[in-house]
Amino acid sequence: MKILAILYKGGNAATSEPRLLGTVENQLGIRKWLESQGHEYIVSDSKEGADSDFQKHIADAEILITTPFHPGYLTADLVAKAKKLKLCVTAGVGSDHIDLNAAVKNGIQVLEVSGSNVVSVAEHVVMSILLLVRNFVPAHEMIERGDWMVSDIARNAFDLEGKVVGTIGAGRIGYRVLQRLMPFDCKELLYFDYAPLPEAAAKAVNARRVEDLKDFVSQCDVITVNCPLHEGTLGLVNADLLKHFKKGAWLVNTARGAICDKDAVAAALASGHLNGYAGDVWNVQPAPKDHVLRTAKNTLGGGNGMVPHYSGTTLDAQARYASGTKSIIENYLSGKAQEPQNIIVGIGKFETKAYGQR
Ligand code: NAI
Repeated sequence: MKILAILYKGGNAATSEPRLLGTVENQLGIRKWLESQGHEYIVSDSKEGADSDFQKHIADAEILITTPFHPGYLTADLVAKAKKLKLCVTAGVGSDHIDLNAAVKNGIQVLEVSGSNVVSVAEHVVMSILLLVRNFVPAHEMIERGDWMVSDIARNAFDLEGKVVGTIGAGRIGYRVLQRLMPFDCKELLYFDYAPLPEAAAKAVNARRVEDLKDFVSQCDVITVNCPLHEGTLGLVNADLLKHFKKGAWLVNTARGAICDKDAVAAALASGHLNGYAGDVWNVQPAPKDHVLRTAKNTLGGGNGMVPHYSGTTLDAQARYASGTKSIIENYLSGKAQEPQNIIVGIGKFETKAYGQR
């Protein structure tokens, strides 16, 4: 059987750090295991265009492993070419780079390693909220430049205490963000999600659900995006919704780049309507050198906390999603049932409610 993995290139870092398991070099640590069973294992980062390894090998691969950090975009056209494909495994969480409707139609299962990096991301969200609210990045840049002008930083630095923080999506990550925010004594914690939290869970973090999105954003000082990308969330945070944000709000998006309209976000920063934008996800990955969100700034020249997509690929997370990927493949090869929480698309149908209300 041919198993194809599209991973990110690790370069020198991966040759000197074997715990970078999710790289082309370290191959999720499963090459020996797969080859000992007679399988062919192709691993590459080449994913764009008809000559890419991805597009060449997809034609006869039975299992495709991809990662959200360097997404191999499995479009409906590629699904049509992938005549032998039976299983897509996302090494991580978030399978929007797969055309899920095409997978349903063609009987291709899509599984992810649910939960594998949700703490990693939740920690990054809390860090990003703090670095925006406290105006950290410009403060650090000032120090590196050799300058020292406290008031230039303090004029836009606040406490998180007393602010209203809301999450769009209160699933595994969103809920963990709320849990981690509790000791900060925020004024209120809010959430917007079509799936209400169980009463006890909402009570445990003292979170209030707001059912209307515009109403929700208008109450928040800080908004964090923690829902999957699907038809209902593509461009959800656009120029129209941003108008309903409080002036000077901060926005953190570690979910998926395309949930927030990049140009609308950059314009809202430039006009002062948004005070900051941070996150690690981009509408195209790798982000082009001139991507507007690499350099977008607020009116004081700060407010940008963007980094490459790495919040969910800490070394701790890589150990978890590499071993989870192996378990999923092991189950598939041995005909054992998959863990229900990992199944996004089962044979011919969606098994999760998180990718939109169907
Ligand atoms: P989850 O499935 O546990 O929770 C997602 C929640 O979003 C669910 O409660 C669902 O009802 C809600 N939701 C879906 N559509 C919504 C909408 N239109 N409005 C409001 N809420 C909506 O997923 P989990 O584990 O919390 O991950 C969420 C997303 O975070 C992933 O799908 C992925 O895109 C992203 N992620 C990013 C990572 C990174 O490294 N930056 C790593 C892991 C996940």
